[in-house]
Formats: sequence, structure tokens, C-alpha cells
Amino acid sequence: MDISSHDVLLVGGGGAGLRAAIAVSETNPKLKVAVVSKVYPMRSHTVSAEGGAAAVIKSNDSLDEHAYDTVSGGDWMSDQDAVEAFVKEAPEEMLRLEHWGCPWSREPDGHIAVRPFGGMKKERTWFAADKTGFHMLHTLFQTSLKYNAITRYDEFFVTKLLVDGGRVQGVVAIELMSGKIHAILAKAVILCTGGCGRVFPFTTNANIKNGDGMALAYRAGVPLKDMEFVQYHPTGLPFTGILITEAARSEGGYLLNKDGYRYLQDYNLGTPQPKPVLRSMELGPRDRLSQAFVKEMEKGRTIDTPYGPVVHLDIRHLGEKIINTKLPFVRELCLKYQNIDPIKEMIPVRPVVHYMMGGVHTDLNAATALTGLYAAGEVACVSINGANRLGSNSLTELLVFGARAGKAAAAFASETAEPGSHVVAQAMDEQRRLERQFLSKTDGRESIATIREEMQATIEKGAGIYRTGDLLAQAAQNLRRLQERFQNVAITDHSYTFNTELTAVLELAFMLDVAETIVQSALQRSESRGAHQRTDFPKRDDEKYLAHSLIYRNEDGSSRLEYLPVTITRWPPAERVYGK
Ligand code: FUM
Repeated sequence: MDISSHDVLLVGGGGAGLRAAIAVSETNPKLKVAVVSKVYPMRSHTVSAEGGAAAVIKSNDSLDEHAYDTVSGGDWMSDQDAVEAFVKEAPEEMLRLEHWGCPWSREPDGHIAVRPFGGMKKERTWFAADKTGFHMLHTLFQTSLKYNAITRYDEFFVTKLLVDGGRVQGVVAIELMSGKIHAILAKAVILCTGGCGRVFPFTTNANIKNGDGMALAYRAGVPLKDMEFVQYHPTGLPFTGILITEAARSEGGYLLNKDGYRYLQDYNLGTPQPKPVLRSMELGPRDRLSQAFVKEMEKGRTIDTPYGPVVHLDIRHLGEKIINTKLPFVRELCLKYQNIDPIKEMIPVRPVVHYMMGGVHTDLNAATALTGLYAAGEVACVSINGANRLGSNSLTELLVFGARAGKAAAAFASETAEPGSHVVAQAMDEQRRLERQFLSKTDGRESIATIREEMQATIEKGAGIYRTGDLLAQAAQNLRRLQERFQNVAITDHSYTFNTELTAVLELAFMLDVAETIVQSALQRSESRGAHQRTDFPKRDDEKYLAHSLIYRNEDGSSRLEYLPVTITRWPPAERVYGK
């Protein structure tokens, strides 16, 4: 076994991880930083973000308005102290990225250009055409290369957090190229592994988003917060789930049902206008738009395709010039993956799982309940996104809370003792577990693909856009059975070099744990709020549920839930009103 030691270790090399790594080095250049990532950093899912990142920059806008949009968009589940910190630091972080070389799109006079985004009262979404994530990640990656103290472990898969004496002291990771097990020790660990969209069958998320960091923390006794809140993005391509950015609607695209009717006017989202109107119709919040799709489907007003019912996103009227300059990636994706040209044809779309509002429970400085462990980005729940995230807040979130995590972890590591030798024994146990459970096991009868498909079907049926207690209870039971059957999985590839079957089985184990937390949290929340819609409890219940769920893992693998009041600072709960 290979053993190495660093001061601060990042798990995940996407936007949050790289921003955190830079922050550690800026805070204390003497600290040795490790970035451990299961893919080469530029292949992290941040790269695929399209539409933009929100931060107040125009003189007609204000931090309070950004905060209010976020809080009301989140159906009052956001912690308002976190939101206030977020909107304040957002513009500073975005400008910092500009100074590091991010090519933000510009107005003709050279000022930063902003576009409207769903649920926002003002235009405040910065963008780099519709390849914002690519440019942000590139900027962070090239900036990280300046710091000699940052060592990268590219294509290393983390299987376990090493915890001793009540604090995290490193990780166990498989070097994918050789299959060799590494104990990578550290005084502080920051999880930046992204979300878990792959738990669902139809998602915008890359194959790498399996809830790794959520499961690692959960297994180490750290609670996951608000896992019942799963975001469906209203416009994904059928079959592939590829995202067609909200920017297509913010530039003026229409959503039409099978009769060519702008159906959103029937759902309290305003009346059709030729140009986009903020917080109205196609620029409503994602939860409401995805719910409207289901209602249209129930009314028989969607279009049947071999890959399920769809509606049409029509951007033809924007014209070739705007499409090619502001939405070039939308056109490219439609041409390559749907074989249509959106300049001439309508785009078939349907809601698709996009983002987890919930995640590892952290405080405002990204610290978790386990000493030395931090989390930032989609893996974490601070919470600013509440019950429904507004589009374009997440790219900014990964900058603001990535930086906060890096600073806090650097301060902690600067005054903390080296990891103890006990954890190396734990790492050896983990190596033996991997051998016994997977690499040398030959007698299992279950396959990865079958269990994964059943898990995905179960969670879609039980915890989709609309839920009921009965369906959730059934899903909980099915997932328990799948956990039992998982014990009987065997892999057929017992080699050590790039063993993708081994990583697939480990990812499936992470996903099963995370799926259970989603279903259990949703089952216990007997109300409807944001993206969590219970048809058996159709109303929001602030009396009982103005509280975050915290789900903990018990020793026997079952779970228990606790609740934590939502922090309200300046915006008492009110009705969410759009379309006006
Ligand atoms: O539609 C989009 O471009 C997605 C943006 C986001 O999720 O923030």
C-alpha cells in the first residue's frame, strides 16, 4: 500500500474542489494540498454547465433582491444567513474569476453582459455564451496550476474516509491505472464530489455523479440535510437527458404543447408575451415548470415519442444570428444528439433530474459535524437553495463556498497535529474488504446492471416530481431489498488495471445508500414545498416543517431523521408568487 500525507485533501477536482484548493494555498502557502479526483479535473461535471452564474452587477439590482429571489425560489427552506453571505460574496468571486481570465460575455460597450434566469426579478446571470461551466472550470484549473503546493491525484477513486479519535484523517483511494490502494492522509478533508443525479434513470448528470461524497460522509456518521429536495430541470433532450439550457428560454424561447399552445399561461405563471418577462411563463422557477409538464401530460397535451412524452421548445423565432452567438452549444447539442437544427425545427424536451438541493450538512464555513471534514458545491447543503434552487445560483455557490471551505480547512490544518498511524491500519482493512467483497469473490448471483436499473426505476416511481406516502413507502421497501441483494453482487473482471466494473460496483453501493436517504427524507416530510410535492399533503406546512431534515445512518445500515429549524433573518415565510 502506498502511504502519503498532506495538510488539506480535496476529494473532487471540479469547480468547488479547485476553488477550495486555490483558497487553501492563498490562505497559507506553506500547506501541502492534495486534489484527489476520479476523473481528470477538466472532465468534472462543472464543465458541462451551460447557462450562467448569478451575481449582482448592474446598478438596477441589489443584494437584497438577489437574496429575496433565492429565498422565495427555495420556498423558504433556505437558511437566510447563508443566503446573505452568498449574495454578498458572489460578485467578488465572479470578478476574481474575471481577473484569473474567465472570458465572460460582454455588452457592446465592454461591460459584463447578464441574462435573465428563471425565478429572478432582475437580470443577473453572467455567462460565457452557453459554455459557462467549461470556461469557469478552465479558468480555475489553469489558476490552480500556479500553486506548487497543490499535488494532483488524477483518476484516483476514493472508497472511504479515514476517521480516528473523532476527526477525519485522510482517505483510502484506488489508483485506477494500477489498481493500487493508497492511504492518503491529511489533517483536513474537503468533499467536493458533486451531486447524485445518476441515482435516477433520466438525468442531465454525467455518469460520474453517483453521490460518492454524500455516501462517504453518511457512512462516517455525518448527517445529510434536505435530501428529499431533488430538482428536475424542465428542458432535457429525450433519451439522452442532455440539458438544453434555460438560457434558450431567457433569450426568448417558448414552451409549446402538442397544440402549439404556450401552456404555462394555465399555471399561474403570467400571460404570454413576445419577449421574456422576468419571473413569468418560461422564466418561472424550475419546480413549477416541471410540475406544469406533468399536468399537461395528464391532460393528454404532450407529444408521445419512443422516449416518452415531450413538449416543444421553440427558438426558431430568435433567428440564426442570436442562436449562433448566444446559444451555439444548444445548436451543437441538438444537431449532434437529436439530429435537428433548432434554427429550423422545434426541440423536443421533457423534465430531467438535474440537481440535488440536499447534501452533506455544513455550517456557513463548509464545516460538517465531523472534525476536520468540510464540504462544498453540490455535494453540500449549506443551505442556500432550500426546496428549489434558482438556475445559475449553483456555479456561483461553488465559488463562494469552495473559497470558504478552503479558508476554513486551511485555518484548521494550520493548527492541527499530523494524522496518527492508527488510520493506516484502517486503510489496510479497507484494502482487504475490497479484495474480499469484490476482487476475489466469484460466487455472487446478482449483476450490477440489474440492481442499478431497479434502483433507478424505484426512485423515479416513488420520489419523482409528484410523490405519495404509499409510493414512497413502497420505494423504501424495494430499496431495502436491493441493499440485501447487493450483498450478492459479483463482478467478473478481477484485474487491476482500469477496472471499470470495480468502480461501477462501488458507485452502485454509494447510490443505494443515497437513494435510501432521499426516499426516507421524502417519506417523513408530510407537506408540499418546492420540488417536494406530496399529492397526499398538497399544502406547505410551516408550522411543522419549516425545518431541515437531517438523516443519519445507524450502525445496522438503517437511518434515523432529526429536524433543524430553518434560519430566518429578514424574510418571513410568505406565498410564492410568479407571473406578476
Ligand atoms: O439551464 C441551465 O443552464 C442550468 C443552469 C443551472 O442549473 O444553474
